[in-house]
Amino acid sequence: MHHFRYDNAGVLCAEGVPLPVIARAVGTPVYVYAAATLRRHYRVFQDALQGLDSLIAYSLKANPNLSVLRLLADLGAGADVVSGGELDRARRVGIPPDRIVFSGVGKTESEIGEAVAADILQFNVESVAELTVINRVACQAGRKAPIAFRVNPDVTAGGHAKIATGHRSTKFGVPIARARELYAKARAMPGIAVTGIDVHIGSQILEVVPFRSAFRAVAELAAGLRADGHDIRIIDVGGGIGIPYGEQPGLALETYADVVRTTLGTGTRLVFEPGRLIVGNAGVLLASVLYMKEDSERRFVVLDAAMNDLLRPTLYGARHHPIVVHQSETWLGRSANRAISSSRTHFCRRSQPVTS
Ligand SMILES: Cc1ncc(COP(=O)(O)O)c(C=O)c1O
Repeated sequence: MHHFRYDNAGVLCAEGVPLPVIARAVGTPVYVYAAATLRRHYRVFQDALQGLDSLIAYSLKANPNLSVLRLLADLGAGADVVSGGELDRARRVGIPPDRIVFSGVGKTESEIGEAVAADILQFNVESVAELTVINRVACQAGRKAPIAFRVNPDVTAGGHAKIATGHRSTKFGVPIARARELYAKARAMPGIAVTGIDVHIGSQILEVVPFRSAFRAVAELAAGLRADGHDIRIIDVGGGIGIPYGEQPGLALETYADVVRTTLGTGTRLVFEPGRLIVGNAGVLLASVLYMKEDSERRFVVLDAAMNDLLRPTLYGARHHPIVVHQSETWLGRSANRAISSSRTHFCRRSQPVTS
């Protein structure tokens, strides 16, 4: 559900505030977020996870806007960060370090140092080379860094090739078949404390089947690692829950939660890293029409917002439909002059509702 609706006069509003009022107050282009949508998505997910020992670590890469983060921090969210900048943002809005996980294949030595000093919940480690650096940095600081290996379960999932990360051909994670050997290596390092297992198989996943097979493999690995004497306290299941686009429904959260329950049980602390699920349709890019350009075949609508403001459609074909702010405004079908002089605003919705 989202909170962008036309009022009786046919003007699009964000939580009852007409978008033209916002455009006049702050100018365009501008991102407008509905706090009510963010809160609702967080709570709907939280409700679905009832009975599980869960931490919702919002994945900052989905939207690192400080006001969005502040709102989620106030709701009790943790953070999944992939850079020193994201770590800094999470801390600036007051997310406690023991609710922050550090993911990503390319953590630099100084970023690792900052996270060690901050005493975060867990490093999700992507390679032995990275583990070696974490060990060195932690030893220099006289600390033990809590780590999980991100395992690659070799499953195919995700809405687009560029957001499918769970197959062995990708750069993500370590092969699950080698995990026990790598955890043994980690245990021998003085600056490392093994705390968990991490997996993230991709984004915009609309079926539970790949989640089920990945989580089963992780459960099996957890049993093996515990038998090897590791204290596996945390299982981080990543993000990836698919949301509705157009007519296509999203993945039912109850179904997803059931799969988590049946595969990973209720005895372990579970970290979830939703991104799109929380912010997917919580905002719009509000832009003004500057010019109309017409030739015999096509009409171009030139906005004051560009590719740099909304990169995803060009990057991997993400859908953000342009819609008019004034319902009565039919500028798409009118003459160019009329459209220019009316100087109406219109916007791109970020996506479709998570729940109806
Ligand atoms: C490690 C990790 N966790 C979480 C996410 C968030 O995924 P989503 O927005 O699909 O929930 C991503 C997205 O790329 C990711 O790479």
